[in-house]
Amino acid sequence: MTKVSNAHVVVTGGSSGIGLATARLLASRGASVSLIARGADRLESAAASLRSSGAIVRTAAVDVSDQAALTAALAGFVAEAGPCDVLITAAGLARPGPFLDLSDEVFRQMIEVDYFGTLYAIRAVAPSMVSRRTGSIVAISSSTALLGFYGYSAYAPAKFAVRGLMEVVRSELKPAGVHVACVFPPDVDTPQLAEENLYKPAETAAISGTIKPITADKVATDIVRAIDRRRFAVYSDPGIATLSGLGPLFAPLVRRFIDRRVRATLR
Ligand SMILES: NC(=O)c1ccc[n+]([C@@H]2O[C@H](COP(=O)([O-])OP(=O)(O)OC[C@H]3O[C@@H](n4cnc5c(N)ncnc54)[C@H](OP(=O)(O)O)[C@@H]3O)[C@@H](O)[C@H]2O)c1
Repeated sequence: MTKVSNAHVVVTGGSSGIGLATARLLASRGASVSLIARGADRLESAAASLRSSGAIVRTAAVDVSDQAALTAALAGFVAEAGPCDVLITAAGLARPGPFLDLSDEVFRQMIEVDYFGTLYAIRAVAPSMVSRRTGSIVAISSSTALLGFYGYSAYAPAKFAVRGLMEVVRSELKPAGVHVACVFPPDVDTPQLAEENLYKPAETAAISGTIKPITADKVATDIVRAIDRRRFAVYSDPGIATLSGLGPLFAPLVRRFIDRRVRATLR
């Protein structure tokens, strides 16, 4: 069982959105938190807002796709606050666009940040969790890792890779007493979504239609519940849970719906 109170929680992407909301919730339960993101200003204002509620917070301005810098930052947190008990990997970015228009650089960046940024953080903390036979590792994947949605040819493969990684790591670390979870959020109202919307092809926007984004606080609540109950999959939305649960049976219907929306947009 991973105890959240007094835990040392590390959150990549902890300066904004889902990462910050989760850090705030865990801090309110008595955890001390270590936050990682690139932008020092946003990181410091996130830390200040948590400290104003009494939380103990450390920060490191690091790019998660830089393995040496990330590993050194995590070692610094451990030297200061003890081993990491809970790791949340929320650092990520999404760049939608038509497959034929996206640059090679975008494909590379999604894999480097969304996949390798997740992998490097997990590889840095997992050995200690295994030797201590405790801990929780939570990675944020995406609902785009459940089926091929128009416009996400660069982002979705990175999130499918995160999902594959977490499926395997779950089964390997469970015998050592380490809890592993993977989160598949739908659209969440965060700065990332606002940025993503600037690049969304009309077809992609038509598929999500009028579905209202959920809040980062809702995802954070579901993540903390999954840690408490040692659950693997976190969906935060009944439609996404159904899509995942019914899997191959449901997928042809969803593909037909997507194709209809795309045709209607092209007309
Ligand atoms: N919002 C959605 O609709 C949605 C849906 C499904 C999944 N997700 C996933 O949820 C996770 C959190 O996203 P969010 O919506 O909460 O976004 P957000 O509010 O934009 O937060 C992203 C966080 O990641 C950090 N970050 C980005 N690139 C980084 C890098 N290379 N190295 C270190 N930190 C980096 C950002 O800070 P800096 O920019 O300063 O580095 C920020 O702290 C992401 O993995 C995202 O793909 C989001």
